[in-house]
Amino acid sequence: PPINICVVGSVNLDLNSYTDRLPAAGETIHARRFTTGHGGKGANQAVMAARLGGAVALVARVGQDLFGRDALDHFRAEGISTTHVTPTEGASTGTAVITVDATGRNTIVVSAGANGLLSVADVEAARSTIESARVLVCQQEVPSEANRTAMRIAEQAGVPVVFNPAPVGAGVPAEAYPLASVLCPNEHEAALLTGLPVRTPDEARTAGMELLGRGARTVVVTLGAQGCLVVTRERVEAIPAPDVEAVDTTGAGDAFIGSLAFFLARGEDVFSAARRATQVAAISVQRPGTQTSFPRVAELSASIVDA
Ligand code: RIB
Ligand code: NA
Repeated sequence: PPINICVVGSVNLDLNSYTDRLPAAGETIHARRFTTGHGGKGANQAVMAARLGGAVALVARVGQDLFGRDALDHFRAEGISTTHVTPTEGASTGTAVITVDATGRNTIVVSAGANGLLSVADVEAARSTIESARVLVCQQEVPSEANRTAMRIAEQAGVPVVFNPAPVGAGVPAEAYPLASVLCPNEHEAALLTGLPVRTPDEARTAGMELLGRGARTVVVTLGAQGCLVVTRERVEAIPAPDVEAVDTTGAGDAFIGSLAFFLARGEDVFSAARRATQVAAISVQRPGTQTSFPRVAELSASIVDA
């Protein structure tokens, strides 16, 4: 049977400048290289899950412009269902202006464009897709009412929700925590959500416990090169990342989330899914770009993918 995954989220055109360092305010610097690429946290996570073999449906909005048409063609080429990806009149496709420094760190400025118009009605129209999914995935680049509607539909249908509170912006609405089966912030997001320092697995444990207290059933805090920490009420496990040379960490979190969702949808527990997702994300940081760096299942070793 197909491993159905529904992603509600954003679609962006990424404008990537590769520089020696990140510019300071008021400063102009030269980039060594420039690329455009398919991005947006929702789209990235959908593509990752599809490349692992998931039957993925995306619920999103793009502009009625060149970038939107290009994104739709791209989703079809990746085998992603675009039934609920709506071209939006009078809106432009979302964009992300990304700067990546020589150590692979980045800054991102997102312009929501059509993503900001994803509505409760759009999500309602995808109700049966959400209800028949094995996992629903949401992030925070679309309006929070749309997300909450999707999460409520999933909850009523008994579909687990992976909620990635990125970008963290003004935080997470209190009602959203109990709707998250797996809340998956990175270290910065976990720190901002809790007001606690989150630099080490130990600190992530304290923050994770706090987020469990707000109602999330499981918390997975990603810690960049330090891997991730899985926190449930019964058990806490630190999962180290393999030691690799990062060239571009853009979208590594999305590689992790998309993989986590796929392995959960395949029926694995969160610890096993997080171990595999850590390996997949580590591959993505060793290659430039976002989706361009996401591996396909055929490239992965048996230890990462075999059940
Ligand atoms: O997480 C990386 C993504 O964030 C980029 O693809 C960019 O579009 C922004 O949404
Ligand atoms: Na990458």
